[in-house]
Amino acid sequence: MNRLWASSAFCALTALSVATTATAQETLNIPQLQGEAKTVIKALAGQLGGELKAAVKAGGPVAAIQVCNTKAAPITAQVSQQEGWTVSRTSLKLRNPNNAPDKWEQRVLEQFASQAAAGANLKKLAFSQVVVNDEGQKVFRMMKAIPVGQQCLGCHGSKIKPALAEKLDALYPQDQARGFNAGDLRGAFSLQKVLVNL
Ligand code: HEC
Repeated sequence: MNRLWASSAFCALTALSVATTATAQETLNIPQLQGEAKTVIKALAGQLGGELKAAVKAGGPVAAIQVCNTKAAPITAQVSQQEGWTVSRTSLKLRNPNNAPDKWEQRVLEQFASQAAAGANLKKLAFSQVVVNDEGQKVFRMMKAIPVGQQCLGCHGSKIKPALAEKLDALYPQDQARGFNAGDLRGAFSLQKVLVNL
């Protein structure tokens, strides 16, 4: 458990101490929620990565863009339905404007960016908090940083092949998700779960 995990769990517990009842004690188990969230992220990252690899192998990177374009959202939605979690991917440098961060996500992404600039280990960068949504429900929210790997550079790096760039231009006229280097912060997974009986 790195410092952020520890401190954010502390944060969430402090925020909720007001509402602590016997039921709340049973329901609000931050380490358990963090564990569940990590499992959901693993499932999503695994499925997205697997689809991408298979698509590049079958038809090359230009064809794989189509897969990203049409499959990323349904895969994310499918994983979301498991155990009441809502999952998405977001970034400060977006390719698809539909993935734009909300205010909470924007703040966490900015926090991740400054931690990344200070040399934080992106593989361990995560933040969680219990917040109250617009409907007055308590929601457990968590974000986990997504670092850029070597295998991402073909589509998010600075030397994108012309045929690929052309396809990206056509699909994403406002694309900002290029020019990354391996090890950069690409964005984050964002998860939320409504907490019942609190
Ligand atoms: C074959 C090209 C391709 C490769 C390789 C690729 N991506 Fe992407 N990426 C895309 C496309 C296309 C989208 C837009 C998907 C959509 O429309 O939702 C995208 C979107 C994203 C998003 C969602 C946020 C946004 O900007 O819309 C993240 C995060 C992301 N990619 C990270 C990565 C990471 C990390 C890797 C390497 C592990 C990677 N990508 C490899 C093409 C690619």
